[in-house]
Amino acid sequence: MLTSHQNQEYGSRTCIVGEEEHHKRVSYGVAVRQLRCRCTRTKVAATGGIVFTFLVCITLLSIFYQPRIDQKPGISNQQKENVGDWNSTRLSTDVRPDSYVLYMHPNLTTFTFSGWVNITVSVTSNTNNIVLHAQNLNISQEKITLTTKDGKKRLGVIKTDSDPDEKEYFIQFSEALNAKQQYVLHMEFSGLLRDTMYGLYNSSYKNDKGETRYLATTQFEAAHARAAFPCFDEPSFKAKFSLSMVRDPRMHNVSLFNMPKKSSETLANGLVVDHFEESVKMSSYLVAFIVCDFAKITANSTGGTQVSVYAPPHLISQAEYALDVASKVLSYYEEFFGVAFPLPKQDLVAIPDFSAGAMENWGLITYRMTAILYEEGVSDSSDKEWVAVVIAHELAHQWFGNLVTMKWWNDLWLNEGFATFVEYLGSDHYNSRWHMFDQFFLKDARIALGRDALSSSHPISAKVTSAEQTEEMFDTVTYSKGASIIRMLDSFIGRDRLRKGLTAYLKKYQYGNAETSDLWHELTEVSHPVDVEAVMNTWTNQKGYPVVHVTRKGNQLILSQERFLLYPKAKAKKKESPYNYIWQIPITISFQGQISKKLLTKEEDTVVLPLLTRPGWLKLNHEQTGFYRVNYDEEGWSQLTRILLQNYTALPTADRAGLLEDAFNLARANLVNITTALEMTQYLRGENEFVPWGVTLSNMLYLYDMLWGNEQAFNLYKKYMLSLMDPQIKRLGWERQPNEGHLANLMRLKILSLAVELGHNETVSRAMKMFNDWMLRDKPIRADYRSIVYKAGVSKGGEREWDFCWKKYLAESNDAEKKKLLIAMTFTKNIDKLSRYLQYALDPTKIKKQSAIQVLAGMSRNHAATALVLAYVKQNWDIIYERYGEGSFEIGRLIEKTTQTLHTQRDYVQLKNFFKANAEKLGTGEVASKQALESIKANIFWIKNCQDATVTWLQKKLS
Ligand code: BES
Ligand code: ZN
Repeated sequence: MLTSHQNQEYGSRTCIVGEEEHHKRVSYGVAVRQLRCRCTRTKVAATGGIVFTFLVCITLLSIFYQPRIDQKPGISNQQKENVGDWNSTRLSTDVRPDSYVLYMHPNLTTFTFSGWVNITVSVTSNTNNIVLHAQNLNISQEKITLTTKDGKKRLGVIKTDSDPDEKEYFIQFSEALNAKQQYVLHMEFSGLLRDTMYGLYNSSYKNDKGETRYLATTQFEAAHARAAFPCFDEPSFKAKFSLSMVRDPRMHNVSLFNMPKKSSETLANGLVVDHFEESVKMSSYLVAFIVCDFAKITANSTGGTQVSVYAPPHLISQAEYALDVASKVLSYYEEFFGVAFPLPKQDLVAIPDFSAGAMENWGLITYRMTAILYEEGVSDSSDKEWVAVVIAHELAHQWFGNLVTMKWWNDLWLNEGFATFVEYLGSDHYNSRWHMFDQFFLKDARIALGRDALSSSHPISAKVTSAEQTEEMFDTVTYSKGASIIRMLDSFIGRDRLRKGLTAYLKKYQYGNAETSDLWHELTEVSHPVDVEAVMNTWTNQKGYPVVHVTRKGNQLILSQERFLLYPKAKAKKKESPYNYIWQIPITISFQGQISKKLLTKEEDTVVLPLLTRPGWLKLNHEQTGFYRVNYDEEGWSQLTRILLQNYTALPTADRAGLLEDAFNLARANLVNITTALEMTQYLRGENEFVPWGVTLSNMLYLYDMLWGNEQAFNLYKKYMLSLMDPQIKRLGWERQPNEGHLANLMRLKILSLAVELGHNETVSRAMKMFNDWMLRDKPIRADYRSIVYKAGVSKGGEREWDFCWKKYLAESNDAEKKKLLIAMTFTKNIDKLSRYLQYALDPTKIKKQSAIQVLAGMSRNHAATALVLAYVKQNWDIIYERYGEGSFEIGRLIEKTTQTLHTQRDYVQLKNFFKANAEKLGTGEVASKQALESIKANIFWIKNCQDATVTWLQKKLS
């Protein structure tokens, strides 16, 4: 039995090179489920607004805190009747915050925090209550005050109430607040400083003396600012924030906020309070503050912004690269967007425990260690690219998201889709040798095409009401489809117009909020006569995408469109969509390399092309910039296959990749025969480019998973794959050539990695030799080869090799290296090790909470482990749900990854029953559970339609 390929994915956005896999917006983090405070009213003393004492010990707090178990918490109906039905998923706009003065004391001795806030609010219509957000905070009711802005009048509080489900807090006043007046609301609160990775939480690392050092840090997106202080926690309640924060100078010499520090003072008890400058108008989810003992390095951007990178002191030398990327990319964006970066400083901080990859807090971006640190000789080529990509992504948010913010989370794609597109501009600018835009199709477009081909997908602009739905929005559709449709628009209207429109949009809505139609409006203004809004609405307001069928008749091309579905039986009714599942498609037609364009707006249309009367090949979706698939008639496909086999360079690289991608997927939908795709793959023996190989390997790996279990088919498959790869393995070798490009190197790593997996003898023995030299003689392995060599060692070796990796893992301090070992260990075929590793994954003393999902997802790609992992996940669902159920994407990702290779009716029924039994405990994985079931249906459909034809074809080719 072969182990599977952790690194080779076909299900989500990843950058896969060698063994290394960088998951976008895939958090392996933890969102420990809320401990609900029921009755504590911890007293918080604040004298003169500054001197502050906090005297609650953790034991006391833990007595009052009780976990939410069976009983559904929330206010009783009785309570509701008393105060009216005040709680809803959205706050009222009667009262809006203008500014916050915030005082925080994160206490890293007691692991608690306390603070107070003065919120200046404007009232737009008379009301006698205020509802705002608070989550897991002890709020001292008796300390709440509301005074008019001028301080002349104070209103009494007659009642407070809280709704832990909506995370809202209700305050009723003795008399009405008057419209058009400003008031100051004062509240005092405290909470636990846990390791939740959201809200205000603690993180830790071991310094070079082996001592554990703690820090306090924040993660507020999407809806967790409310877990640190009471606030109006919705993106359109923009306000100015100022902060004073207490730290113990004996432990922590650094405190950070979105804005620079203004002054510091030492209190009588020896603690220090740092005061920060007031922020610009911004949304609460972008606020951040940190208390730590980190070192920093600083540089200036061309526009004069002070850019600094912070990291644990012993790792600070690994921050140089990030500093270089950040200062260059920040300068570039200022020029590209035509809008200056408004803050005096931009900090980037490496956080040891971090749920997402990184977070764009305005002026204080936080990163997982692997997304910011780079160590020459230890980090590999794709780690290096990844760091730049993440930095470019988060810096893009400083404009898209921070300066202009979506009105509501339904338009999250305006943040994430944009930042994903712009990250390509930024990283391409930083290093054009990475050919980032060539990689776009592989890393984003095709991943989105895969996910959005399920009927259970959702429109880019989807309806979002609850916090859980918000968290679920951080998905492939929002990021990768969002970026893909911007890319389509970019090539449709041209870069200059795109840039002009974006600048106008940023200027018009700066420090405010916008929705999708506002963006389309600005782009329409600069794109005359193209009606950008009409075209793009069909891409953002309905789910899915089209397949365009092409038939050639004399000088005419007949084009027709229909929604593409991997499991066609899941077809939804046309009237479900506001556009009847018809898209306005910017079509490009390449006839022998000559390009014509057509905007297809109807279900069917005809294009007259005089050239067509001549013989020659025809390819639609030139360079694959459009978000659609293309299906040709039989003659069309055979002509293209002939071109690939005889003279493939006649087609651009992206087009070669696109043809393979479309053929494999059209076969899954039963629109072409699988042999159409397989015939084409034969040209790859001579293909020297990374992207077509990347696309093909991902698609062939789908076959690998589907054929697994059918021994004869599986052996044929392996034999065929090795016959395709063999000439490339020989050509590429293990040595980097002088002047060799980045993509050539990535291609070598990808091919060698798969060669190990498929048991290519020479590659395996070479890798094993390197592993043994490392294990037995301590001989170092070149960074780029480590993932491959570790995988070879673990998958072809036994207990000794696994134990050695585990030992190395425990001793290692570099997170990039740790991750390589962590992934490598998922490849073992040893059942004992697998079960042990499963247990480690959910034991935070062994494997960090931020890495657990990664291990489970990784293991399930190992065929020897797939069933074990699924059983383990089901068995431990309560723990998993408790820890990850409210996080952004971890549970969804876990569901996707642990079920994506299932392909029998039995699997389907069992999983369906499992989801049904746990319907209340799917958390943010609800959409993922539907998608998982549909994916299994699609897999069964593939087996039924394609398996036999594949086996027959392989037999014929190999005989
Ligand atoms: N805003 C997100 C981080 C985030 C995600 C916060 C989900 C809350 C919930 C950030 O900009 C982001 O997208 N980070 C990516 C990395 C990026 C390079 C795609 C991530 O964390 O994976
Ligand atoms: Zn983002």
